[in-house]
Amino acid sequence: MSQIVFDRVRHGYRAAGRPEMLALSDISLSVEPGEFVSLLGPSGCGKSTLLYLLGGFVAIQSGRILMEGRKVTGPGPDRGVVFQNFALFPWKTVRQNIAYGLERQKLPARERDEIVQSFIDMVHLRGFEDSFPSQLSGGMRQRVAIARTLAVKPRVLLMDEPFGALDAQTREIMHEELLGIMQRTRMTTIFVTHDVREAVYLSDRVAVMSSRPGRIKEVLTIDLPERTGPSVMKSARANDIVEYLWSQVKIDAAHAVSAVQ
Ligand SMILES: Nc1ncnc2c1ncn2[C@@H]1O[C@H](COP(=O)(O)OP(=O)(O)OP(=O)(O)O)[C@@H](O)[C@H]1O
Ligand SMILES: [Mg+2]
Repeated sequence: MSQIVFDRVRHGYRAAGRPEMLALSDISLSVEPGEFVSLLGPSGCGKSTLLYLLGGFVAIQSGRILMEGRKVTGPGPDRGVVFQNFALFPWKTVRQNIAYGLERQKLPARERDEIVQSFIDMVHLRGFEDSFPSQLSGGMRQRVAIARTLAVKPRVLLMDEPFGALDAQTREIMHEELLGIMQRTRMTTIFVTHDVREAVYLSDRVAVMSSRPGRIKEVLTIDLPERTGPSVMKSARANDIVEYLWSQVKIDAAHAVSAVQ
């Protein structure tokens, strides 16, 4: 059984006095346990909306979303979300931010501290336990956000352009970090991005979305050899895949721009 199923999902936004604006139309997609699937598409095509519907933050109007066979009706600890804008508590330290979700689980303090430390180690932030987010770089903050989400042991990880605000070098480091975490945890992940190379490098499959109203145009399996480092992206095969996906996204990006003008 697929772990996540989107079944003919449609979503419109309504603002007072305005006609409904259709953001997503007829989305069907299944994700298998342990898969890393990226959603790629132009700005405004509904990538975040799709993730938030699965996260349970936005009510499902039409169609169904199943998580391990059960209909999604609201947020739950089985779905961990990492947002683009480093949603950390600025008044809490790294340790306190990562412990946040665990506090509700009523674990003995020692056990909780051990879990927190193991996730601090996993994202290579040993030595920064007592720092506040304002004292960290963007990449470090995003590592705290990932650790905080993983610490509560979700069944799937949903990431909305988690590295979009980072510089190219930090992003590359975060890619290696994320691939390492994925190898260790085998966590099913849905990853939203605009960045074609990022999607190709990280994903088992890439779902290409059309401009608004978002539809899934194509789902491409990325058959690259084992990701042993960024040099994989220098191969002719990787370049072909990137070129192809770019051409698919570009058609819709042009539509999205002309629709705004
Ligand atoms: N709360 C809202 N109310 C009304 N319209 C919304 C709301 N949230 C999103 N939209 C609209 O729905 C469409 C899809 O938005 P969404 O944020 O899901 O797109 P996206 O693909 O994530 O875009 P980006 O790549 O820029 O983050 C957009 O046209 C957006 O303006
Ligand atoms: Mg978005």
